[in-house]
Amino acid sequence: MKLMHVDASAKRERSNSRALSRFFVERLRAGHPDLEVDYLDVSVDTPSHVDEAFAIAIYAAPHERTPAMKARLAASDALCQRVLAADALVFAMPMYNWSMPSAFKTFVDAISRAGVTYKHGDDGRIVGQLAGKKVLFITSRGADLRPGSPYASMDALTPALNAAFGFLGVAAPAFVDAQPLQFANQEARAEALERARDELSAVAASWANSANAASHANNADAAQHEDADSEMTQ
Ligand SMILES: Cc1cc2nc3c(=O)[nH]c(=O)nc-3n(C[C@H](O)[C@H](O)[C@H](O)COP(=O)(O)O)c2cc1C
Repeated sequence: MKLMHVDASAKRERSNSRALSRFFVERLRAGHPDLEVDYLDVSVDTPSHVDEAFAIAIYAAPHERTPAMKARLAASDALCQRVLAADALVFAMPMYNWSMPSAFKTFVDAISRAGVTYKHGDDGRIVGQLAGKKVLFITSRGADLRPGSPYASMDALTPALNAAFGFLGVAAPAFVDAQPLQFANQEARAEALERARDELSAVAASWANSANAASHANNADAAQHEDADSEMTQ
């Protein structure tokens, strides 16, 4: 399985979302040793902000793009190919001001591309090209936004991620939201991390099982083809 792993916290060693995404990748690798990881830290390798050249170039028909437009889109093209090449995607980020960190938003802007990550079907409908990929969002929050909490209605992160990635074909992403990690006592924070790790272990086990089942099916298929080929050459 090829996994794209993206971190987005401005914090480094002290980041909870980074620690949780590392934990998840380790658990996944433990269950599926063939794991291949393509890592991106958008707080370091931040895609460029949308500017006028980008906004015009993305909607120009590919055959009408000038060399300058193609050059402006090159990094976004490359990022789209990395995303499309992955079987599974894990995105880890803190909640900043109730939504996603701006570095992650630049990533969303870079990979949401007509004709590349979403296409127009013959009936005019949008066909997201990320359909079929496993997707996990790990979010860390200072407050507790679970149902029943006074902050529950402030969650603009979950709907924003669902909308952006749903448009690209991601129908049922998994979410592991670690909360409260800052505006709470030590015990509540420790419990939140424990809960998140338990949920991540369950997602990792489920992804590993289906990746292992898929590679067994592929191996059986390849062996069958080999048998058929050798029968034909006898
Ligand atoms: C700039 C900034 C804005 C934040 N905004 C929110 C917020 O709106 N709601 C919230 O619950 N926590 C907020 N927090 C707290 C972080 O989401 C929380 O500490 C999280 O665990 C950080 O994840 P990290 O350790 O991976 O950086 C904010 C933190 C920062 C630095």
